[in-house]
Amino acid sequence: MAKVLVTRPLPDPVIAALATAHKVAVRAETGPMSAAEMVAALGRFDAILPTLGDAFTAEVFATAGEIRTRLLANFGVGYNHIDVDAARRHGIAVSNTPGVLTDATADLALTLMLMTARRAGEGERLVRAGGWTGWHPTQLLGTHVSGKVLGVVGMGRIGQAIARRAHHGFGMKIVYFNRSPKSLDLPARQLESLTALAAASDIVVIAVPGGTETRHLIGAEVFAAMKPEALIVNIARGDVLDEAALIAALQSGQIAGAGLDVYENEPVVPAALTVMENVTLLPHLGSATVETRTAMGMMAAENILAWFAGKPLVSPV
Ligand code: DGY
Repeated sequence: MAKVLVTRPLPDPVIAALATAHKVAVRAETGPMSAAEMVAALGRFDAILPTLGDAFTAEVFATAGEIRTRLLANFGVGYNHIDVDAARRHGIAVSNTPGVLTDATADLALTLMLMTARRAGEGERLVRAGGWTGWHPTQLLGTHVSGKVLGVVGMGRIGQAIARRAHHGFGMKIVYFNRSPKSLDLPARQLESLTALAAASDIVVIAVPGGTETRHLIGAEVFAAMKPEALIVNIARGDVLDEAALIAALQSGQIAGAGLDVYENEPVVPAALTVMENVTLLPHLGSATVETRTAMGMMAAENILAWFAGKPLVSPV
């Protein structure tokens, strides 16, 4: 029986699955672990089930001294908060939860596209503030999503799920930027550069993984290439998008609006964004459905169960 630390409260079936074979401790706090907590946990637990915000950096592993942990079974597909190379150097395997959150995250990308294009946040704020004086023909006119061009940055699982929804649901034409060619089950044109994608798109959606390779991938150069009536949507990781450059592009009218689910320094959202009516701001809700969060937890648990049963990890990083 291994000692397992779950670093946040998770749906009951996940804890129950782990508890069938292991001694499970669940950290009660909902916020990220401090460095001191991570160092202590690495010395005490055989496996840790961490998540977004638990920054397992090279320094944390180096400070930990004698490490008992053999597996970090991350809850989430994104694992840019874990220094995987440093973990490996300390003999720790890492797994994640790909696939199970694709649909929920793609749904949320469409939510942001529609909310931003149709000014839904602004309209809702108006109603709640008691400021709606009645329908009239030129009130809160947004822009059409149907039939427009969607530029997908990163045509992985989530990018493809977004493209499918946009194409089949809204008749959008799809262009995309991806490092490698992709064979897709829908019509889509791969473009050679981010600026070509920016120039061709009515809405740009970011769906690349986070990490050092994609940090500030979308910045001033991309905004300068976008049409002034175009929108940008980010459901990936906050730092893929240069937030200061985004604010400048919105303030100068270089682009028309943004829909964001993720931020460079979560949970800090720059005040400059919160005062803009043409920006939709969500609190990292991409995978936030009961079904998805349960499936993510079950997948992390399956990795732990497999590992200690001497079987291959279900989804190794
Ligand atoms: C992930 O899985 O990486 C998500 O961002 C967490 O919802």
